[in-house]
Amino acid sequence: MDSAGSVRERLVQLLKDRGFVSGTEIGLRLGISRSAVWKHVRALREEGFAILGSPRRGYRLADVPDTLSPPVVLPFLSGGFGKPYRYYPVTSSTNDRAKELAQSGAPEGTVVVAEQQTGGRGRRGRSWHSPPGGLWFSLLLRPDVAPAETQTLPLLLSVAVARGIEEYLGLHPDLKWPNDILLGGRKAGGILAEIGAETERVHHVVAGIGLNVNIASFPPELETTATSLQIQWGGKISRARLLGVLLAVIEEDYRRWCRTGFAPFHAAYQKRCSFLGKEVAVVAAGGVLTGLAAGVDAAGRLLLSVPGGEVKRLSGGEVTVREEGAVAAGSGYR
Ligand code: BTN
Repeated sequence: MDSAGSVRERLVQLLKDRGFVSGTEIGLRLGISRSAVWKHVRALREEGFAILGSPRRGYRLADVPDTLSPPVVLPFLSGGFGKPYRYYPVTSSTNDRAKELAQSGAPEGTVVVAEQQTGGRGRRGRSWHSPPGGLWFSLLLRPDVAPAETQTLPLLLSVAVARGIEEYLGLHPDLKWPNDILLGGRKAGGILAEIGAETERVHHVVAGIGLNVNIASFPPELETTATSLQIQWGGKISRARLLGVLLAVIEEDYRRWCRTGFAPFHAAYQKRCSFLGKEVAVVAAGGVLTGLAAGVDAAGRLLLSVPGGEVKRLSGGEVTVREEGAVAAGSGYR
């Protein structure tokens, strides 16, 4: 963050905490001249902040814009995740930006956010629809674990995201293995975790999280399978506050996972998976398997009870619930 940016964040924080604050007091508190105060106020107004000015009383913050720019988001960050915070109005994919940062030594907790992605990526080589209004971000993690142990990290993140949504909005997300976030039976979000590792050591994990937040409608190819938090909750949501809540919950759960592994989260994960106990089809590396989704084990593998009684343990794949003997149409998500 450049110094103009950090002055603006402190200015927004100061105005948030108070009513009118005089230009002289702002200047003293931030260590800048009165004319610099005016320049920063003007720059914030250009970003969409409604800052009222009165010659005798000073400045008052009347409204903040619905953007994810640093002055809007940073006041909502309570822990270490989100520091540093990289913001792009538009980028190809936040995962790509986060990987570049990882390679240049950025610390754990770095977050990259974009208002819009032009090359958003989903699991299994799919594209990810990323228009303005969503929450598209990547979190850089550097867990001190063997590569195989990161298998449960996306599951852990999906429980944390579900818990954050529940805490903030009172909605009850359902999870579809391995880490789809569903609301009302439709996909509201997903996680793409990309790992950089040697044989025995993890360098970094880029956890890309996509949530359809303030999105009112979807293109035809998604309209029967996708939903948004706005549609499910019935109103527009402060993405900055939601991001603050999510990063706090993710940080808490991730720190615990680093100490204990997935075991303490295993039951909570399975409880949110409403597809368990149902007949499913799983598109995996070796083809399509059908059977009963019997559970998810503590290593994050799907237990699929196939005809004949054998229980297969699957490490990856795409689950579709089969309805009345047929694979439910339109359950794929792009
Ligand atoms: C999925 O297929 O379910 C995973 C979708 C992950 C999308 C997010 S949006 C932020 C980050 N950047 C990307 O290009 N993808 C992830």
